[in-house]
Amino acid sequence: MKITECKTNHYTNPLGYCFENPVFSWKVTEAEGKKMVSARILIAADERMEQRITDTGYQTDISSLAAPVMMKMKPRTRYYWTVCVRTDADEEAVSDVHWFESAKEGENWEGKWIGCLSEGKESHVFYKEIEIAKRVSRARLYITGLGLYEAMWDGNKIGEELLTPYCNNYNSWIQYQTYDVTDRIQQSGTLSVMLGPGWYKGRFGYAGNWEKGYYGDNFKLLSELRIEYEDGSEQIIGTDDSWKVRTSNLVFSGIYDGEWRDDTRKTGEDGSAVCVEAPRGKLTARLSTPVTVKTEFPAESLIHTPAGETVLDLGQNITGIFSLRVNEPEGTVIHIQTGEILQQGNFYRDNLRSARSEYFYISNGTEQTITPHFTFYGYRYVKIEKTLCEDPAEAYAVMEGEKRDVIYTPMPDSVKDNFVGLAVYSSLPRTGSLVTGNPLLNRLILNTEWGQKDNFVDVPTDCPQRDERMGWTGDAQVFSATACYIRDCYSFYYKYIFDMETEQESRGGMVPNVVPAFDVDSTSSVWGDATTIIPWNMYRFYGDTGILETHYSSMKAWVDYMTSVNETAEGKKDGWRRAIHYGDWLALDGDGGTEGVKGGTDDGFIADVYYRLSTQLTAKTARILGKTEDAEKYEALSDNILKEIRAEYFSPNGRSCVNTQTGYLLTLRHGLSKDRERTGIDLKRSLKSNGNRLQTGFVGTPILLEELTKAGMSDLAYHLLLNEDYPGWLYEVKLGATTIWERWNSVLADGSISSTGMNSLNHYSYGAVVEWMYSYMAGIRQAEDSVGFQKVILAPVPDPRVGQVACEYNSASGLWKSAWKFEDECHIRLAFSVPFGCEAVLYLPLAPAEIFTDKKNPIFECVRENVCYLTAGEYEITYKIREPEKDTEEE
Ligand code: BGC
Repeated sequence: MKITECKTNHYTNPLGYCFENPVFSWKVTEAEGKKMVSARILIAADERMEQRITDTGYQTDISSLAAPVMMKMKPRTRYYWTVCVRTDADEEAVSDVHWFESAKEGENWEGKWIGCLSEGKESHVFYKEIEIAKRVSRARLYITGLGLYEAMWDGNKIGEELLTPYCNNYNSWIQYQTYDVTDRIQQSGTLSVMLGPGWYKGRFGYAGNWEKGYYGDNFKLLSELRIEYEDGSEQIIGTDDSWKVRTSNLVFSGIYDGEWRDDTRKTGEDGSAVCVEAPRGKLTARLSTPVTVKTEFPAESLIHTPAGETVLDLGQNITGIFSLRVNEPEGTVIHIQTGEILQQGNFYRDNLRSARSEYFYISNGTEQTITPHFTFYGYRYVKIEKTLCEDPAEAYAVMEGEKRDVIYTPMPDSVKDNFVGLAVYSSLPRTGSLVTGNPLLNRLILNTEWGQKDNFVDVPTDCPQRDERMGWTGDAQVFSATACYIRDCYSFYYKYIFDMETEQESRGGMVPNVVPAFDVDSTSSVWGDATTIIPWNMYRFYGDTGILETHYSSMKAWVDYMTSVNETAEGKKDGWRRAIHYGDWLALDGDGGTEGVKGGTDDGFIADVYYRLSTQLTAKTARILGKTEDAEKYEALSDNILKEIRAEYFSPNGRSCVNTQTGYLLTLRHGLSKDRERTGIDLKRSLKSNGNRLQTGFVGTPILLEELTKAGMSDLAYHLLLNEDYPGWLYEVKLGATTIWERWNSVLADGSISSTGMNSLNHYSYGAVVEWMYSYMAGIRQAEDSVGFQKVILAPVPDPRVGQVACEYNSASGLWKSAWKFEDECHIRLAFSVPFGCEAVLYLPLAPAEIFTDKKNPIFECVRENVCYLTAGEYEITYKIREPEKDTEEE
């Protein structure tokens, strides 16, 4: 028996993260027993676990998903812990020793905020020489800087993280990071910190411009290096006006526009840093999970385009940076641009809108490797060219865009060997894997996984390439369950909903459509409902009520906000319905053509349905938290909203007047009609009248296949999934997509991009179909009364057109597996794995009644009405399927 994946507050050995009390979690594998009967947590001040701080003793009511232990944490202290587990087979095991280390826990900083007297667009480097005269036993760097910082010791980067201190509303809170620098700081050296503009100042969002930053106009740095020596003494080096500052060779950086590096530039004179006013936001220990370089992409091919360009193709649309080795004569300007797609074989980037998304480098005649520091790109193709400028002013005119008649020369073919694309995203453990017998579906799954990586750069973004790259709440909401199947997203969403809370606080509970909000001050149903849906999904996936406790007031505030809008001055209850909403965004049943954004489903109906959903989730949360009065209030409100919905949109017998695919889907999903069967028939008819092709947008698409399957139309669900023509998921796969497109018709069948106004090739929303693949196609879906996947409904929906599926989901409770394969036309083989401590309710698909009496197979150990009840273990079966029943009949 082994105890694995031990985490504190859902992080492995967290250093300097923000939390009040530790919450421990772990998994058990290779046990004889089926269940944990008790567990005991020990916390100590030393790694040998001798200086005990806490011993919970063996407890029977402890959860391996989230076991909180109350303790007062001292600042800057490492604590060690183990968990001992006993099982129902009388086994006992102790985990390895794990640790968590507190941050500054609210203590005062010895360092002061520093900046420089004047600054332009260029990055500045603040530095201080530090003398180390004795042997160092432990060293920590506590640091933050605005906009973005990179700390170095003797010119070498400290840690691997990029884009620190990450992206949030800096007027509300500013994260600081902690680095263990013991190994680095053993001799005298220079601590230097380079600052770039990032999201803090410069152009970002809709209103950002270079003249005025959102959060400030001046770089600010705060750090504290604490060195403990072997003789027991301590040295603290905080930032203050004894630090020096100079300008760097990074003459410009911007999130949208890229970076410029001038190696011919004499870096500025050394000046003194000055103490500056602290920024407005509250200094807070980090919440963001590290963003690092995750995959290196050497160019897959070099393309000489018809237009005479030299273009590299990575073979995959990524978010990230690159490294390029260059060796050019002094004064050479290298110009790099990124794009997502070629057009007529040529480099193309009009769909990035105003984002310049480029890199300029001015060579000083030496060999160098260039890598951007304070920006990122969303790209697959890179165009690289160069020109020689005799005069530096000319090079700047080129970079500023003032000199337009530049004659560039394409780079020689050797550029292919000198360029490496670097994919960058938040570090989240992978939990899901899904492979089918259909290569196109496998590519769709891979594209969704890339969509997640590419849009999980600290904030769940809509897209990584054009002049948005923002935390659109609706996109995040519809994709959140899929994301949690693929990766352990607890820490990522925890930070995001913390951001959401802070934005709501200053807006009377209203959830801005974008979080962090930047200048977006509007809200919409479905988008704002992220504040109830994401925490709820997290609770369901990870089983930690902590997320509901911390976020409950925001859930409530959102529902109360909608209620206040709903109750109009005329005494009516339809204000929310009549507010402005995005509706079934990008659905095909609107009337906007290829540039259209609005779907055909009544926005007010969608708004009411989501108002009720948020109210229900808030009521359920109140019940879980023991807030009975609140629970009753929101339950009653939810009942009233249902009455309003029925009165407005349904006939007394349950016929819906919202006659769109999404309208019927929402009706089924939320039990709105009194006549469910009728809705199913209407949905089927509506699809049929559209040639059995989908028309759904952001609202309908994520639930389309699930509702069809639940209504007995899995055949139709597979038909839509496997459709290779427009509109459908495989249409884009067949056109060579390597991520998920924003629009069903982002690219037309002839390969030309359909529009440039709002058209990204890397939006993950429609990738939400992967949730259905895990939960229905593979059949691993959580029971209603379960959290953390302790109890799962194993109900795979096999289809001969897909042939086979092998799925693994390493849930918060352990590793679930489900696989099926058609051995021939009528024989199917299925295999399942139920993790320790878990139970499954298994529905064997198309199983003939007689097999359930076969007591030799452990699958049938406990059967009631042809449903198998499984405990932890591995199971397998092959049988001859019975004839599938026909889909819902029309009247
Ligand atoms: C974004 C979307 C977002 C939408 C809301 C777009 O510009 O890219 O994904 O949800 O606006 O209207």
